[in-house]
Amino acid sequence: MNDLKLEPINKADHAEDALDLAQRAADYVTLEIGRAPDMDFVNDFFMATPPGLSTQDLHPFAVMQERAMLGMTCVAQGYEFPHDWWIGLVLLDPAFRGRGLGRNVLQLIKHRARKARMSMLKLSVLEANPRATHFWMREGFVPHRYAAATPTSDGHNRWVLRYAL
Ligand SMILES: CC(C)(COP(=O)(O)OP(=O)(O)OC[C@H]1O[C@@H](n2cnc3c(N)ncnc32)[C@H](O)[C@@H]1OP(=O)(O)O)[C@@H](O)C(=O)NCCC(=O)NCCS
Repeated sequence: MNDLKLEPINKADHAEDALDLAQRAADYVTLEIGRAPDMDFVNDFFMATPPGLSTQDLHPFAVMQERAMLGMTCVAQGYEFPHDWWIGLVLLDPAFRGRGLGRNVLQLIKHRARKARMSMLKLSVLEANPRATHFWMREGFVPHRYAAATPTSDGHNRWVLRYAL
């Protein structure tokens, strides 16, 4: 998949494209937020920041193969530590899952992270999403900490995973 690219995207120009992708990937979105994909989800994809960061630290990308958007991902630079890239989401169109695209996307993320002189990738995966947990562990991520749901959170238990670059 040599022609696979991560193209920077932004809310002003790409909200409709992101909503279209989220609607194709409604299985995952519904699992995470408990409702069908909508513009609030898209807004969070582009704007929601981990604690202590601003939207300037967010880097949203479309996963592009030629002119087709097959997925999207967003990384936040500087959470939990200055040289961490926090992968907020990798979301692929279900029609393109299970054939190595996720591994290729991760390679592209690693390449960009190393160029940005990052030393660690981190992410959180829903306990209710064992297939994704399997994917990340297969790719070498290891458990970092367990983040149990709290009375004020979205109800999901999560594993935070890490990968040393
Ligand atoms: C998780 C995800 C990014 C992996 O990308 P992918 O292209 O399907 O993964 P690959 O083809 O490189 O690897 C497939 C592996 O991922 C696992 N996997 C996870 N979710 C899967 C899915 N929905 N469909 C197919 N395989 C999936 C499979 O178990 C498979 O492992 P195996 O080959 O050892 O059996 C992608 O499936 C996806 O977008 N899933 C929905 C959103 C999601 O869960 N994102 C992660 C949030 S932390």
